[in-house]
Amino acid sequence: MALGDNRTQTQSWQEADSQHHLHPFTTHPELRAAGPRVITRGEGVYIYDSEGHKMLDGMSGLWCVQLGYGNKKLVEAGAEALAKLSYYNTFFQTTNPYVAELAELVAKLTPPGLDEMVFANSGSEANDTAVKLVRYYWNLKKRTSKKAIITRELSYHGVTLAAASLTGLTPMHPQFDLPLPGFHHIGPPPYWYGYAKDCSPEDFTDVCVAALEDKILELGPDNVGAFCGEPVMGAGGMITPPPGYWPKIEAICHKYDVLLWSDEVICGFGRTGSWFGCQTYGFNPDIITVAKGLSSGYQPISATILGGDVAETIRSADQEMSHGFTYSGHPVTAAVALANIKEMQRLDLVGADGAERAAYFQERIRSLMDHPLAGEVRGVGFLGAVELVEDKVSRKHFPEKRNVGLTCRNACMEKGLIIRAVRDIMVMSPPLVIDRSEIDELVDTTRQCMDITLDAIGA
Ligand SMILES: Cc1ncc(COP(=O)(O)O)c(C=O)c1O
Repeated sequence: MALGDNRTQTQSWQEADSQHHLHPFTTHPELRAAGPRVITRGEGVYIYDSEGHKMLDGMSGLWCVQLGYGNKKLVEAGAEALAKLSYYNTFFQTTNPYVAELAELVAKLTPPGLDEMVFANSGSEANDTAVKLVRYYWNLKKRTSKKAIITRELSYHGVTLAAASLTGLTPMHPQFDLPLPGFHHIGPPPYWYGYAKDCSPEDFTDVCVAALEDKILELGPDNVGAFCGEPVMGAGGMITPPPGYWPKIEAICHKYDVLLWSDEVICGFGRTGSWFGCQTYGFNPDIITVAKGLSSGYQPISATILGGDVAETIRSADQEMSHGFTYSGHPVTAAVALANIKEMQRLDLVGADGAERAAYFQERIRSLMDHPLAGEVRGVGFLGAVELVEDKVSRKHFPEKRNVGLTCRNACMEKGLIIRAVRDIMVMSPPLVIDRSEIDELVDTTRQCMDITLDAIGA
């Protein structure tokens, strides 16, 4: 890139970016005023910007870099596949060795029966595909009225027209005239700390499950095709479900012949301590959608995994399934995903080694509970959250305009730690390879920044 007389390389990249690049989930005038941070390198759990700042990535990028950055095995697998078969499609009765082996390996890790999959490129596309396959399944079953899909308030399922319609974070709807018809959101979400001040977690489970049953009865069981939920709600505030929630949801779905679909775009591939979140929470979905951790985010690849009668019905339909992308099962993305899973297995990230470090992470984040701002600390596996409140006893939150979560997040950035603020919930989702000393750094820096936040807001 040609540099202007007085511009640094960073300024030159910032100007080029600002003039031509509309960023996701960004207020563009704000970005243009500040200039984007340019990330140039990643290694292990750290990323580096163009000015040489080192940051511990406590969010694994966007919840995806299970193996951390720069894993050589994945780099080599990608390079080899690029050189050998840079592209070919999986239409017209063709496949490639990488995607064939990947499908077989994923099917070995999923719960029994969930062993047929459609590949795509992103979590949103996997979810969009699942919406279409729910419709296709019920059409094949000649129960063509079963088309409504129920999700939850505060859920996040992506950005395509269907995935954003599934999403229960309502600010994502008005700009695009969403949700589309046929998508229904129930409340309360299973967010005990935020919604249930006078109710035990067990009783709150029943309230949330009753909301699903009520909605199915309101729409009519013959009109409801599927219920879709994240085992742990990520973008909505790292919401772990109250006890017994998922098995009870499963029972309601069975009672009314409604497909149960687990959106594991975040929870899949070891994030909650098992290969899949449904294993951690003890339920049996008909459909699982995955992305992110499938390739540790090194390549864009996702899958819609089908089980039971859905898999059998679609597999045995004597007609062309009119769905699939140019890049479904792309050899390079599949090769990298295959290497990723093998590397996760070799490093025992979802076995005893991962479990020991996940337990240490959970123990360390819980030590933050004695901080004056900490209302609740929650988490599972390598997911963690600290919810900041004005009053611990009444669980009173700060007024939104005080931007307490953002203040804490920005303080962390200044100190070289990336965590996310969802409202005033400080969310962490570090790489699964994070070691004990890096966990200490993550938690100690968070505490320091909670102190800075406390000072800044004068609470
Ligand atoms: C649970 C869940 N589903 C779907 C998506 C959408 O994935 P993508 O951004 O790859 O389209 C996300 C992204 O964060 C997610 O968290």
